[in-house]
Amino acid sequence: MKQPTEIKPPEGKLGVLLPGMGAVATTFVAGSMLARRKLAPPIGSLTELAHIRLGKRTDGREPAIRDLVPLPGLDDLVFGGWDLFPDNAYEAARNAEVLSVEHLDAVRDELSAVTPMEAVFFPEFVKRLRGENIKKQTNKMELVEAVRDDVRRFRADNDLERCVAVWCGSTEVHHEPGEVHSSLAKFEQGLAKSDPGISPSMIYAYALLQEGVGYANGAPNLTTDIPALLELSQERSVPISGKDFKTGQTLMKTILAPGLKSRMLGIRGWFSTNILGNRDGEVLDDPDSFKSKEVSKLGVLETILQPERYDALYGDMYHKVRIEYYPPRGDQKEGWDNIDLIGWLGYPMQVKIDFLCRDSILAAPIVLDLALFMDLAQRAGFGGIQEWLSFYYKSPMTAPGLYPENDLFIQLMKLKNMLRWMKGEELITHVGHEYYD
Ligand SMILES: NC(=O)c1ccc[n+]([C@@H]2O[C@H](COP(=O)([O-])OP(=O)(O)OC[C@H]3O[C@@H](n4cnc5c(N)ncnc54)[C@H](O)[C@@H]3O)[C@@H](O)[C@H]2O)c1
Repeated sequence: MKQPTEIKPPEGKLGVLLPGMGAVATTFVAGSMLARRKLAPPIGSLTELAHIRLGKRTDGREPAIRDLVPLPGLDDLVFGGWDLFPDNAYEAARNAEVLSVEHLDAVRDELSAVTPMEAVFFPEFVKRLRGENIKKQTNKMELVEAVRDDVRRFRADNDLERCVAVWCGSTEVHHEPGEVHSSLAKFEQGLAKSDPGISPSMIYAYALLQEGVGYANGAPNLTTDIPALLELSQERSVPISGKDFKTGQTLMKTILAPGLKSRMLGIRGWFSTNILGNRDGEVLDDPDSFKSKEVSKLGVLETILQPERYDALYGDMYHKVRIEYYPPRGDQKEGWDNIDLIGWLGYPMQVKIDFLCRDSILAAPIVLDLALFMDLAQRAGFGGIQEWLSFYYKSPMTAPGLYPENDLFIQLMKLKNMLRWMKGEELITHVGHEYYD
């Protein structure tokens, strides 16, 4: 990754392509439309609200992030996507029951105009869903071509300068990477032969990367986290990032665990359970889809707490995560955590968390930030994995052989230093010796 000498300005319109137009995607689209009309505030978004310190604490320079790096405005965004259900974004948002009817009706015309293109869908990858808005081709390479045609048409119809994609589709069943994913050449042969190891999300990602469109993965399924698509993203110099938006319970975990560890407090057990009743919850009720989520949710504590280094504190920790599908709760998830701590001389303590959150309300600003930062990465000439966007993910993608950084505060420092580095600003180490010289 080279420090950019210049970042291309965000001229013209940016297309935001969303494979999967359910609760998260429509909450993001409707929210962006409301925010750009100043009908509701874009709370939770760094690209819209956060400031960044530059130089010394005494310099008094703290511009908004969007004044440091060139980002498109909300007015420059055009939305599109794919779904196996034909509902337009207004209808899908009404079904998702996240935003109020008053909010949705305020942007009804614009929202209704966002209609899903036909999906690439194989039921063996998402077992609980059946829909009719599906592409008819059966060969996987032909499906790639159909998605590429969609992207070109969307670009031409909307007079777009650039596009970026954020996967907001259902979680696909858990798969280990296999031979077909091990190189680009094998993957392309696999597409021609419709290899069963190639999932719908991989077909979208391959097609989008070939079209020069950056791809952010909001779900835990592998998709671009395989050597073949990493190779393609590097070859085409297109950014990729993932996996799995870090929203409710895992966000809390990556806030709390670094704090407990920083004080060298031990943990004997961490039990997390959730009830949720949206379509995501229904899909995750299938054990194979839940397996993808479980892997992503369990990984965070391991890398934060380093049990291999701190055996006495975390070597025996029992970590359990459960998700229960409970329809009455809809998108308004409830997440409980029980943490069994150990302190000085081994004395036990407990922490209980009851987080009454709204899944899609937490995820929507992440989609916005990822779309804008992935576009920034593209304009700065960064291809391949964008590890500086780990801040947004439960299971951050890293260079092969590198362990991910899951501590939210290190992730934020990394993100901000990356923005400073892009603009040739001094990096902030927080040593601060110069104030005392
Ligand atoms: N909301 C959160 O807090 C959160 C956090 C982390 C990850 N996620 C992930 O984000 C994704 C979206 O969540 P959601 O709550 O919007 O779910 P949702 O079920 O409301 O929406 C997913 C949509 O994807 C569509 N879909 C599935 N397979 C598709 C395919 N192959 N092509 C096109 N469309 C397809 C479904 O029809 C559905 O409309 C899920 O994978 C979820 O696990 C959500």
